[in-house]
Amino acid sequence: MDKERQSIIEQTEIFVRTQLAEAEGGHDWWHIYRVWKLALSIADEEKADLYVVNLGALLHDIADAKFHKGNEEIGPRVANEFLISLSVEPEVIDQVIHIIKYVSFKNRHEPAPFVSKELHVIQDADRLDAIGAIGIARAFNFGGFKGRALYDPAVPPNPDQSKAEYKAAKAPTINHFYEKLLLLKDMMNTPTGKKIALERHRFMEEYLEQFYQEWDGKR
Ligand code: ADP
Ligand code: NI
Repeated sequence: MDKERQSIIEQTEIFVRTQLAEAEGGHDWWHIYRVWKLALSIADEEKADLYVVNLGALLHDIADAKFHKGNEEIGPRVANEFLISLSVEPEVIDQVIHIIKYVSFKNRHEPAPFVSKELHVIQDADRLDAIGAIGIARAFNFGGFKGRALYDPAVPPNPDQSKAEYKAAKAPTINHFYEKLLLLKDMMNTPTGKKIALERHRFMEEYLEQFYQEWDGKR
């Protein structure tokens, strides 16, 4: 990577850190940091363009729609203006904007009109941050933020929800494992992502087994 590109990545890192200074636990700078580092490691194995992966991963949640009254235009616009201000090449900006638009799990019912290896890599890294030890922590943090129960044996999970139902759901956090987290291993795009997902998946299954045991007072 040449010096100019390195400097643009550093400026993007600072911009994102500043923008997300007040963000909640699941989508804070440290989520970006983890996705960024993991995406780079996957990109290396999958031979994706590292410049696009750096910028795309750093900017992928720059203005998450759920914190902007569902407005899905803000993120791409903020990123576009920022990258133009750094004189990034239009072709690179286009790729980054495309990544920001199509990386989210919520858009799974609206597939991207075209896919790129870089989108695939970042999407894998983003989804991988929702599973495993960190994923479990994020889920309960999100549930707590929304005032949800940890678990309620009387409320069964509903994995076939529409986008609107999924967004409006009030179910206990354990249900989220069956509605999203345990489905992610089969949604990986790249072989490297799949390998990491399987390890994190097994960890969650073990976690759930112990959770139910403890729930019923077993030791
Ligand atoms: P993304 O930003 O990747 O589109 P979301 O915004 O849906 O994903 O979720 C962000 C984080 O919050 C993830 O770790 C996800 O598992 C968690 N989360 C989302 N919805 C719920 C829920 N209903 N219960 C518990 N955790 C949730
Ligand atoms: Ni994300």
